Amino acid sequence: MSLVSMLSSKGPSGFGYASTAEEVTNGLDLTGRTVLVTGSNSGLGLETARVLTMRGATVIGTGRTLEKAREALAPLGGKTIPVAMELSDPESVRACVRSVRALGIKLDALIANAGIMALPDHEKLHGIEKQFFTNHVGHFIFVTGLVDSLADDGRVVILSSGAHKNAPAVGIELDNLSGDKDYRPWKAYGQAKLANLLFARSLAARFAGTRRTANALHPGVIATNLGRHMSAGARFGLLVAAPLFMKTVGQGAATETWAAVHPDAAKINGEYLSDCNVSTSSALGQDKALAAKLWTATEEIVARVGGAA
Ligand SMILES: NC(=O)c1ccc[n+]([C@@H]2O[C@H](COP(=O)([O-])OP(=O)(O)OC[C@H]3O[C@@H](n4cnc5c(N)ncnc54)[C@H](OP(=O)(O)O)[C@@H]3O)[C@@H](O)[C@H]2O)c1
Repeated sequence: MSLVSMLSSKGPSGFGYASTAEEVTNGLDLTGRTVLVTGSNSGLGLETARVLTMRGATVIGTGRTLEKAREALAPLGGKTIPVAMELSDPESVRACVRSVRALGIKLDALIANAGIMALPDHEKLHGIEKQFFTNHVGHFIFVTGLVDSLADDGRVVILSSGAHKNAPAVGIELDNLSGDKDYRPWKAYGQAKLANLLFARSLAARFAGTRRTANALHPGVIATNLGRHMSAGARFGLLVAAPLFMKTVGQGAATETWAAVHPDAAKINGEYLSDCNVSTSSALGQDKALAAKLWTATEEIVARVGGAA
C-alpha cells in the first residue's frame, strides 16, 4: 500500500488512519454518558477527554495527583471529575477505585490509557519490572476493581500498542517478571503492551454472554510525552520525521474514542483495534493459554502487593 493510500484509506467502520477523535464522534450526543480515562492530563488521554466532553459526556479523568488531573481537565470546560491515581502505588489505585465507586455513577466506558515507555534503565516496583507493573498490573487492579461499576453495556478499552510485537519470544517471561535475568527497554515495553492486549482478551472472555465488552488497541505512532525516556537525539529524529509517518494527537486519540462511544463499536468484544477498525495482532496476542497464565500470575502479584479496596 502506498503512503498516500494508507493515509486516505478507510476500513469497514468508515474511518481509517487519518480519522480524528472529533471526526469519529461527529454528530454523536454523549449527554448522560460517563467515560473514565486514565492518564487524562497528557497526550492521547487529554485529547480523548477533550473530545468526549465536547460531545457532552462526563469524563472522570485520572492524573497522578489530583492537582494534575484538575489542571488538565478544568480548561476543557465540560463536565469533568478529576481523580488521583498513581499506577505504581497499589494503595493509590485502590483508593481511586473506592472514590470512583463512591460517586455511584455507572461507567459507560473505562479507557485504560495511561502508560510509560522504554525506560532506559532497569527499574522495579514491588519486585516487578516497572513498565510491566505500571502499564499492566496497575491497570489490572484498577479495571478489575471497577468492573461492577460498569454499565450493563459498559466498554473497557485498553491501550496496547503495535509494539506488543516486540515482546520476548515466549510472550510474557513469567519466570522473569522482575526483569532481573535480562532487561531491554523495548522488549520490556513490548511485553507490557502484550500484557495489556492479553488482559483485554481475558476480560472479553469473562464478559461473553453479557453486553459488556473489552478490547485493546494500537493508537498509531504519535509524538506525545510518551517519548520522555528516549534519548534527545532519538526524540529530535522522530519530530523531524513526524509528518511522514506519525499521526497527529487528534488522529491518535480516534481509535480509543471510537471504541469507547461509537454505536458501531458496541458489540465488538475481545478484539485488537487499529485505525478505528478491527485489526490483527501477533499470534502471541491471540494466545488464550498465555492470557490465562498471565491472569493467574497477575492475581498472584496483586495478592502479594495488597491494598484493600
Ligand atoms: N504515543 C504513541 O505513539 C503510542 C503508540 C502506541 C501506544 N501508545 C499508548 O498510548 C497510551 C497513551 O500514551 P500517550 O502517547 O498519550 O503518552 P503521554 O502523553 O506520556 O501520556 C501518558 C499518560 O500516562 C500517565 N502516567 C504515566 N505513568 C503513570 C503512573 N505511574 N501512574 C498514573 N499515570 C501515569 C501520564 O501521567 P504524567 O503526565 O503525570 O506522567 C500521562 O497522563 C499509553 O498507554 C501508550 O503506551 C502510545
